[in-house]
Amino acid sequence: MKINLTHIKKAKKYLDKNECIAIPTETVYGLAGNAYSDKACKKIFKLKKRPKYNPLIVHYYNYENLMNDCTLNKNFFKLYKKFCPGPITFILNLKKRSKISKIVTNQKMSIAVRFPKHSTTRNLLKRIEFPLAAPSANISSRLSPVCSKDIREDFGKKIKFILEGGRSSIGIESTIIDIRKEPKILRLGSIDVKTIQKLFNKKIIFNNIPKKISAPGQSKIHYSPGIPIRLKAKKAKNEEAFLFIKKKKKTESNYYFLSKKGNLNEAAKNLYSTLRKIKKNKYKSIAVAKIPNKGIGKTINDRLMRASKF
Ligand code: TXA
Ligand code: MG
Repeated sequence: MKINLTHIKKAKKYLDKNECIAIPTETVYGLAGNAYSDKACKKIFKLKKRPKYNPLIVHYYNYENLMNDCTLNKNFFKLYKKFCPGPITFILNLKKRSKISKIVTNQKMSIAVRFPKHSTTRNLLKRIEFPLAAPSANISSRLSPVCSKDIREDFGKKIKFILEGGRSSIGIESTIIDIRKEPKILRLGSIDVKTIQKLFNKKIIFNNIPKKISAPGQSKIHYSPGIPIRLKAKKAKNEEAFLFIKKKKKTESNYYFLSKKGNLNEAAKNLYSTLRKIKKNKYKSIAVAKIPNKGIGKTINDRLMRASKF
């Protein structure tokens, strides 16, 4: 997508005034504000109706900008070199002298940080003098937005400005990895866990549904389209939409497909927008046919499982 400098400069103006705006990323859109400003961060929580205890992800241009705020270690640089900028979020220790607003971390000494790849947002990050706190730009516990229209649907005029960046190319939230001690994955994303394991040459723990929630994206009820979801369905019941990974030869009016050929990356990219479409088409619930539990298919299953707890 072509960079629109006028729009980026407008976005900067809002952010400099501690306003919240929506920004595009390759995973999903974020609801962004100055991470050094209490005022801006409070606005994010209010707009999203997000509980105060659920901390925000902070977005940086590169690791040099991050060094004032966080302690970096060997594992960080290993992952950074391989995946950044890109769809990975690190849990790190905050430095005492960090300027990050206490609202971002809910007074804690750990923080989630990420380096998004989307060229428009990278251009913006390079121009501003602070990192951006930006959770996904949806009302708390609902589906993340993958285009500006999704954001308008959730927030209407409450959002002052949406920085247009086209459709998110990945369409599913970043992989979260806690690297303060032994690396531990807290949320599955588009990066295959096997690739991370290869990098470290060992098995990496994934805390699927821990007793104590350390990332609310891990909580059971999340990513919901607002209607019930039934998994591993063989048939659709009355008034149910039927969702498949791969396009069927014989289709019915209630059939929805995530990919023509059953490509899992394409399926992930289309997941949230298809769930939104089904809801808009007034179905009362969704039956989902079995999805292969490999690669990003694991992440799709993880999100659908949480959405199904609605
Ligand atoms: O792809 C993404 O990560 C998108 C884009 C906009 O960057 N952002 C995103 O943010 O998904 P959000 O807030 O919807 O999800 C971030 C998750 C939340 O579940 C939050 O609880 C967790 O990260 N988190 C934030 N700070 C944390 C911390 N210090 N320790 C553990 N989990 C944390
Ligand atoms: Mg979210």
